[in-house]
Amino acid sequence: MDDFYDCLAPLYHLIYQDWDASIAHQGEQLSRIIQTEWPSSVRVLDVSCGIGTQAIALALKGYSVAGSDLSSAEIERARREASSRRAEISFSVSDMRKAFDHHGDGFDVVISADNSVPHLLTNDEILLAFKQMHACLCPGGGCLITVRDYEVEDRGRDIVKPYGVRLQEKKRYVLFQVWDFEADRYELTFFFVEEDLQTRHVQTHVMRSRYYAVSVSKLRELLGEAGFTHVRRLDDVFYQPVLVGTKAK
Ligand SMILES: C[S@@+](CC[C@H](N)C(=O)[O-])C[C@H]1O[C@@H](n2cnc3c(N)ncnc32)[C@H](O)[C@@H]1O
Repeated sequence: MDDFYDCLAPLYHLIYQDWDASIAHQGEQLSRIIQTEWPSSVRVLDVSCGIGTQAIALALKGYSVAGSDLSSAEIERARREASSRRAEISFSVSDMRKAFDHHGDGFDVVISADNSVPHLLTNDEILLAFKQMHACLCPGGGCLITVRDYEVEDRGRDIVKPYGVRLQEKKRYVLFQVWDFEADRYELTFFFVEEDLQTRHVQTHVMRSRYYAVSVSKLRELLGEAGFTHVRRLDDVFYQPVLVGTKAK
């Protein structure tokens, strides 16, 4: 799994039409949710920060941010991207299932965004991660998870998900994913077809990973089991459903 993101790290920004615009937009949206749900929050922990999309966004909004991820290549890139944007973030490599063991407590908000949690392939693994996130929080602190809504996705084999075309430094990239389901797990193959517009040379970068197509309602239940109160699903506040839960005071 971490090999998938280690290979993806240099290309990850291409998933977005304009990564910097997405950082700014996500920063607006996430800080609005945090201010509404847990006003006066200062310390934020992102347990699946990747190359830093949300961690950088929240640091630029004035939060004190720590970010970790399983992929060391992504963390390396996140450090470079944060520093070039003058965002001060403490980055480290860690598994979200060991978030408390690694980071300790004292955080006001713990986040895991962009469908990271479904990389954990069983309910038990997700519950373990949620319990660790719970332990990282101060009393009254909040957990914010964003995920795909698998209830509205087709299931089967050979499902193609186009991601569009990106132009960068005289190169054209065509991005698409192929999904192959077995029951409620699926293998995702991500293709980046890179064409040099000057030489017409073409190469394809291919990466594979597995996901658990866990429903939002199951995640809600697991957050409750991990000790969170006031667990709710928020729609239309982010580009995918958001789950919030609070640690009792
Ligand atoms: C779709 S990416 C999202 C990254 C980032 N939040 C963003 O939006 O740019 C999913 C991330 O989850 C991370 N991840 C998967 N399993 C993990 C685990 N057990 N612990 C920590 N990070 C994990 C991956 O390495 C990857 O960076």
